[in-house]
Order: sequence, then C-alpha cells, then structure tokens
Amino acid sequence: MKELYLEKPGDLKMIDMAPVPAPMAREVKVRVIYGGICGSDLRVLRGTVPYATYPCRPGHEILGTIVEAGAGSPFKVGTKVVSFPNTYCGTCEFCLQGRTNICANKKAFGVTCDGLFAQEVLLDSEFVMPVPSDLADKRAILVEPFAVNVHALKRTDISKGKSVAVIGCGTEGLLAIALLNHMGADITVLDINPTKMEKARSFNKGIKPLLPSEAKDQLFDVVIEAAGVKASVEQAFQLVKPGGAIISLGISGDPISYPALRITRSEITIYGTIIYTKKDFEDAIALLRDPAFNVSPILSRIDPFAKYQEAFADALTGNFAKIVLDFSQT
Ligand SMILES: NC(=O)c1ccc[n+]([C@@H]2O[C@H](COP(=O)([O-])OP(=O)(O)OC[C@H]3O[C@@H](n4cnc5c(N)ncnc54)[C@H](O)[C@@H]3O)[C@@H](O)[C@H]2O)c1
Ligand SMILES: [Zn+2]
Ligand SMILES: [Zn+2]
Repeated sequence: MKELYLEKPGDLKMIDMAPVPAPMAREVKVRVIYGGICGSDLRVLRGTVPYATYPCRPGHEILGTIVEAGAGSPFKVGTKVVSFPNTYCGTCEFCLQGRTNICANKKAFGVTCDGLFAQEVLLDSEFVMPVPSDLADKRAILVEPFAVNVHALKRTDISKGKSVAVIGCGTEGLLAIALLNHMGADITVLDINPTKMEKARSFNKGIKPLLPSEAKDQLFDVVIEAAGVKASVEQAFQLVKPGGAIISLGISGDPISYPALRITRSEITIYGTIIYTKKDFEDAIALLRDPAFNVSPILSRIDPFAKYQEAFADALTGNFAKIVLDFSQT
C-alpha cells in the first residue's frame, strides 16, 4: 500500500505506508478509489498556508469503499463513502448549535493533521457519508467541493432571474456557476484567465464573461467572491448593487481595505461562508444524483495514482478545473 507524503513544502513523494490498523469502535477502514486535488492541497504544497503542519500526508477529498468496520460503526463493509475534510468536536458552543463548520476545535485533513491521499485510510464514522449506488464515481468525487457552494448559496436568497456575478472561475467558482445555472440565475463571470471564463460558459452560452478590468459600473444583486485575492475582494464591493449582498467564499490572507462608507450608505450585506454541515453534504448528494444537474465541465481528468507528480504539476498551472487521482492504479 502506498501513500503521498509531504516532508516540507515542495517535497511531495509516494512512499510505502505502514499497514492500517484494524478499525476500533466507530472507526472504518476505507479503500480509496478517487482523490480530488484541491486548491488547499496546492497551497500546502507551495507552503503558503501559515497554519499548515509538516510533515504531512496531503489530501482531503476522497471517495472509497469501507473494507473493515469497527463494532460501533453504523456502516457495513462494502458501503461506498465520501469523506469530510475536517473533523469537529461535537461539544463546543458552535457544534451544539449545529454549526460544525465553525467548530472551535476543528482539524483539517492534509493541512493541520495527516490527510487522506493513501490507498487505505482509517476514519471515524462521523466523518464519512455513504453515497447512493446510483451516483457515478465521477460525480461522487465532487460532493465535497460542491457542498461548499451548496452551503454558500444558502446564505442569501438567490431566486430565478437574480443577477449574480461570480468572481473567480476555479473549481469552486465553477461549482457555484453550476448551481446558479441550475437555479436559473442571470450569471456574469469574472476571471483574469479567459480560458476559465470559456469553461464557465460551457454550462450555458447565456453566461456573460467579463474581464475584471472591463467591469466599470456594472452592478449585480449578489456577488460571489471565489478568487480569494486582494483585487477580487475589493472588486466585489464595487460590483454589488445598493441593498445587495456579497458572499465571501474565497480565502485571502491579504489585508483588504474596508469600504465602510459604501457598505453603510448602500446597505451592503457581507456573508462569510466556510465549508458546510452534514445537511449540505446530503443536499449536494441529492443534487448530484439528478441527471439534469450539469457538472461535467468541472472534472478535467482522472490520472493514475502513480502519475501524481504530473497531476499536481498540472493542477499548479491553474489552467485546469478538478484533477482526480485514481488510487486503484499505481
Ligand atoms: N469558504 C470555503 O469554505 C472555501 C472552500 C474551498 C475553497 N475556498 C477558497 O475559495 C477560493 C477559490 O478556490 P478554488 O479551489 O476554486 O481556487 P482556484 O485557484 O482553482 O481558482 C481561483 C480562480 O480565480 C481566478 N483569479 C485570480 N485572480 C483573480 C482576479 N483578480 N479576478 C478574478 N479572478 C481571479 C484564477 O484565475 C482562478 O481561475 C480560494 O481562495 C480557496 O481558498 C473557500
Ligand atoms: Zn477541497
Ligand atoms: Zn466543536
């Protein structure tokens, strides 16, 4: 059995892994099928996440099959599952309100503790969710990144015909666009990379592309900031209509100037949004089960696990959407 190992930023290796112990209590042993490479895996690889710990096994988006279950697990051997990428404590003030996504004690797989890019992993049953047998593996691997947007788009009312601008057409922006398109929103997309905007338009030719430099005085009911850089966050404030809302999804560590006058006088609402709850995972699965829900532009390709170097290198170029590793092929 093999796993990926990141000794320090930039130093990614495939190594033989120690045998995974038998699951105890509520644990399950999962044989990994697919692992999706996420922007946060790339940031940990680059060394730009200040709170990341090394050495570290990367990865958090996996689909796999339970091959052994502890006596206290509610799941049977053979169940196909997707993983949660974060743990939560279940006992803090926020978990007790059902807001496990802002748990005071959460840990992030592949960032603040060992991740899941291995041929077998041990997980607590709390942090896996079964996927229905009629959900294809290629759609099931998108459950986790898609749940981010299922949660984000619940933050404010987005009904049919509302004008929505999505800034940043990376995997997260594209998944937001997939859902907005399904909801019938009037969508404009912004990216500095025209290829990314073309990908967004493959959902629907009615989607309007706009280079950030071209936006001028256009205004939108809702702006979804999904690029996570200083320039895009600041542009979000310029693009939102009076009385409108910004969904702040991108994660930027840069100091951003806060346009207090515009926010106050135009009654702008800013919604922070971070990952999801179990309910969002369930809703993401329900949407992905619907064949009328189009997510095909998201998955760029599936590479054998052995080609992880090429897969990560291509993901780092920023020219692809989701690249997935197939852990059954070494
Ligand atoms: N809130 C959450 O729960 C959550 C979850 C996952 C990811 N994120 C964050 O969301 C952001 C997007 O994630 P991703 O995986 O799609 O990243 P990504 O790097 O794949 O995509 C970012 C996109 O933004 C574009 N971009 C860069 N600068 C821009 C600018 N000035 N204007 C417009 N577009 C610009 C890039 O060309 C790229 O297409 C990141 O900041 C990530 O950390 C947040
Ligand atoms: Zn992810
Ligand atoms: Zn908690």
